Amino acid sequence: MKSILLVSSSPRGANSYSHQFAGHVIADLTSRHPEARLVVRDVAREPLPHIDEAFVNAITLPAEKRSPAQSEAVAVSDALVDELLAADVLVLAVPMYNFGVPSSLKAWIDRVVRAGRTFAYTEKGPQGLATGKKAVVVLARGGVYSDGPMKALDFQESYLRSVLGFIGITNVKVVRVEGIAMGEEAVKKALTSAKAQTEEAARAVV
Ligand SMILES: Cc1cc2nc3c(=O)[nH]c(=O)nc-3n(C[C@H](O)[C@H](O)[C@H](O)COP(=O)(O)O)c2cc1C
Repeated sequence: MKSILLVSSSPRGANSYSHQFAGHVIADLTSRHPEARLVVRDVAREPLPHIDEAFVNAITLPAEKRSPAQSEAVAVSDALVDELLAADVLVLAVPMYNFGVPSSLKAWIDRVVRAGRTFAYTEKGPQGLATGKKAVVVLARGGVYSDGPMKALDFQESYLRSVLGFIGITNVKVVRVEGIAMGEEAVKKALTSAKAQTEEAARAVV
């Protein structure tokens, strides 16, 4: 393992459960692979601009036909794609916001899911190009979505699995820190379960 990319998307810093448990996964991985380089992209603390007109027009044009603004928009995306493609392991730390992912993470996804770079259109349909990677996705939620009445409202895990799979990242382990808004006992249970899940996820990745 040469490189780990952490994409963190909670604005709560050290208080964030997703960030804390992603940290446990990374500590476990780096203790087994001290040579691994860790790259941290905190999209909550350093938000990426949402994609705009310059970007969506630019990605359909050859480089020499792009305006300076379009070239700049693509350069931001290219740097993020390069960072992702260089990683052997991707760790996503993700709060659930309104049943889905934070818009800061969506802005990152909109920049890295790129035709010709992380997926290709083929005669057989789209094909992921970001292959050969493993991912650990750490999900923090106030409620419980892995089972029970709220399960159908979990657009966080299903979306992330879909979009990662679309670009070719299919080896995905999930850690759920869930039920943390449901009282003291539920928090204790959530943290104990999440600790066991991080160990399992890290073992599966190594
Ligand atoms: C704006 C906002 C929206 C939220 N939406 C949901 C939600 O839809 N479902 C849920 O279970 N928890 C929701 N929560 C609670 C968070 O998922 C929970 O606090 C989680 O721990 C946040 O992740 P973090 O600890 O990594 O910051 C929301 C919190 C905020 C601030």
